[in-house]
Amino acid sequence: MSKLSVIGCGYLGAVHAASMAEVGHQVVGIDTDADKVALLSAGKSPFYEPGFDELLRRNVESGRLTFSTDFAAAADADVHFIGVGTPQRRDGQGADLTYVHAATDALLAVLPDHPENPSLVAGKSTVPVGTAAVLADKFAAKGAIVAWNPEFLREGFAVDDTLRPDRLVYGLPADPAQAELAEAKLDEAYAKILSGETYEGLDWSETPKVVTDYATAELVKVAANSFLATKISFINAMAEICDATGGNVTTLAEAIGYDDRIGKKFLRAGVGFGGGCLPKDIRAFQARVDELGLDDTLDFLSDIDAVNVRQRSRVVAKLADALGGSVEGKTIAVLGAAFKPDSDDIRDSPAVDVARQLAAAGADVRVTDPKAGPVVARFADDLNFVDSIDDAVTGVDAVAVLTEWKQFQQLDAAKVAELATGRIVVDGRNCLDRGNWESAGFTYLAMGR
Ligand code: UGA
Repeated sequence: MSKLSVIGCGYLGAVHAASMAEVGHQVVGIDTDADKVALLSAGKSPFYEPGFDELLRRNVESGRLTFSTDFAAAADADVHFIGVGTPQRRDGQGADLTYVHAATDALLAVLPDHPENPSLVAGKSTVPVGTAAVLADKFAAKGAIVAWNPEFLREGFAVDDTLRPDRLVYGLPADPAQAELAEAKLDEAYAKILSGETYEGLDWSETPKVVTDYATAELVKVAANSFLATKISFINAMAEICDATGGNVTTLAEAIGYDDRIGKKFLRAGVGFGGGCLPKDIRAFQARVDELGLDDTLDFLSDIDAVNVRQRSRVVAKLADALGGSVEGKTIAVLGAAFKPDSDDIRDSPAVDVARQLAAAGADVRVTDPKAGPVVARFADDLNFVDSIDDAVTGVDAVAVLTEWKQFQQLDAAKVAELATGRIVVDGRNCLDRGNWESAGFTYLAMGR
């Protein structure tokens, strides 16, 4: 058992903290947001994430997991995981490292000076390549060692992805003695996950471990997200071509996906990617390689970004076309606010963006989402949010499904037809059963099929 701290208790940090407690460690989560710390300390999740409430409550009750706003509570931990956010800068495309520096400065201030057993600072946040080396110099002043240990969890699957990751990546210092110590500490923290021990009756297969240097570890994360973004924009570009030619992008994706080298995953065409990761990570990656003087190297990521953003206006254009040339004065139900189902996260959400574009074009827009209501009230109160699907669709001219929640996929189109005035549905996630909607009298519009 190690004593661990996790600095930053958002989607990444809070789930990491609870998961590390679950595998037997004593863990303290640190966050500067007192409200969040109070909630977490009471065993209540500040966000919606399947399975997390139960994991959190169980580990808080066992006493293995505590939370604090005071960095001093982390001072004696063996490993400090840094999980603070690295959002897009307000004044540019690059990553804003304010929280990384604030968190590491505050941690540095409470660390003991050159103890016999130096502590390890393990960065999990997504950072521009070169950041770990800068932090390593900073922590050397107290004799602490830095490793980079990127996180690959997906929202909606955060608990499973943390407890059963598909790989662990360790970016270690160049100094062999430091590298050995850092690897040993990470191995101890991840012992159960690495060994493939049984967790609640499920067999873990052994988790692959990739041991490398700082730069590679930092790059693995942004390379992975850039590749995923590229897959999505590739299939969305194919969807545009299918729309122009009468092809079907779902069939196309299935057919190319049978080739193992391509694979079927992440080829769902629709309104595109959003969230707190993919969009800002591809921008920050480009900004960083520009700084490195490799201006042209990642130019293609601007196209990936442009294809992605274009899908949002394509939904608006489809609605305008179907409504006789303009959405002005029309009433439209937007089903979905979260950037993906099983999440209440609306950061850079395509659904929210489309709802705003429609409102800006003069439509009367009603948004609903099974989980994101409180988050919309807090961060997007310009939207007209209604609590139920029935309230959203009653009397509308058109319905747009922009997040593929099960509840929307399973809608009885005949019932929607009884409530809605118009008979237009845009399936922004290619997730609806066309037959169900067409037989209820709807004109069914999708993204490339
Ligand atoms: C993403 C990565 O998948 C994680 O591996 C990574 O750890 C995480 O970012 C991060 O950097 O922290 P996440 O943002 O939770 O995870 O969501 P994804 O499942 O990747 O979905 C991103 C967006 O792409 C969603 O808006 C989703 O609707 C969209 N998407 C996904 C598609 O439009 N088509 C697809 O085929 C797949």
